[in-house]
Amino acid sequence: MRLTWVSGDKEPQQVQYGDGKSQTSEVTTFSAADMCSEFRLGSVVVPSPAKDFGWHDPGYIHTAVMSGLQPSSTFNYKYGSDAVGWSAEIQFRTPPAGGSDELKFLVFGDMGKAPLDSSAEHYIQPGSISVIKGMTEEVENGNVDSIFHIGDISYATGFLVEWDYFLNLITPLASKVSYMTAIGNHERDYSDSGSWYTGPDSGGECGVPYETYFPMPTPAKDKPWYSIEQGSVHFTVISTEHDWTEKSEQYEWMKTEMASVDRSKTPWLVFTGHRPMYSSLGADDQFLETVEPLLLNNKVDLVLFGHLHNYERTCSIYKSECLAMPEKDKNGIDTYDNTNYTAPVQAIVGMAGFSLDKFPDDAPSWSLVRISEFGYVRAHATKDELKLEFVEFRYQKC
Ligand SMILES: [Fe+2]
Repeated sequence: MRLTWVSGDKEPQQVQYGDGKSQTSEVTTFSAADMCSEFRLGSVVVPSPAKDFGWHDPGYIHTAVMSGLQPSSTFNYKYGSDAVGWSAEIQFRTPPAGGSDELKFLVFGDMGKAPLDSSAEHYIQPGSISVIKGMTEEVENGNVDSIFHIGDISYATGFLVEWDYFLNLITPLASKVSYMTAIGNHERDYSDSGSWYTGPDSGGECGVPYETYFPMPTPAKDKPWYSIEQGSVHFTVISTEHDWTEKSEQYEWMKTEMASVDRSKTPWLVFTGHRPMYSSLGADDQFLETVEPLLLNNKVDLVLFGHLHNYERTCSIYKSECLAMPEKDKNGIDTYDNTNYTAPVQAIVGMAGFSLDKFPDDAPSWSLVRISEFGYVRAHATKDELKLEFVEFRYQKC
């Protein structure tokens, strides 16, 4: 399990964990020179907040891998050094091993942050505080094995001090259970920077702060795609912000990676990234046409995206048509018989903080559920069942 923390001190520190184990940190940082530069829009020069008026020295980012841990178990750790002091003792719960029977995870996108007092932030996501509070209660009650935050992470978007605010807010979650992420447009996109979409949405960050704060098990720098297995679930996590067209490196990876999944070990294949294939508010047709066949070919069960700020769930869908419809179980819950696979169910889960998107009056027939409220998704997977619930948290203005 990798632990990452921020300090003003550049000397290596330690994490001390379990029964007397320890690991020394690797120390990294980034500078204004690592941010993307201004760009031209016709005759207008658009400045880069990250490099210019939004720059903030991040200090030093320490990271250390705690090895020799048992899955599905709790242990205590603290991090720091005698020179700078130590954190409090924190209790962590490791996720279940890939191939074991049960996994309880939370998943959402587009959370961001909001001030806890009257201080100013340039970009505020009003639902974030209450959603974090709800998830923290679940983590404290021991109901969560791991968390997936699928893009649009902090919305610092070039105002780099706001990463610190965000990291502080998620500490009650990310210090206690595995917190895995996918990259979104607000972490990566910028003109002439190698992102697939060329809008200025990252404010010049170009993925550098994101990749430093959230070092995922990716193949290389600025190739933020990976897979992970926990319990009965194999997660394929992609970057919708990097080239996914046929013959691209990421496309080839998706193809090979999903074909290699051992479904007797992890019966459920969950595919996730940031931008959706289906939304009644519209999505990128080229992305749908290119990548959707891989989902069907590899019998993906569930597809989770964010980017739109609401919750929307499809039928079992392929090429915009419902190949199967759910039946109500005795509790009135939409249920599919997975022994008769037809196509993935897709859901947008971008309702964790950013101001909500309303739905159009005339939704397509494949859109079965539409909720424009703040919340997150709670999932429970065994080898036989994969259950999802939308958990709503209303924003209360104080
Ligand atoms: Fe987004």
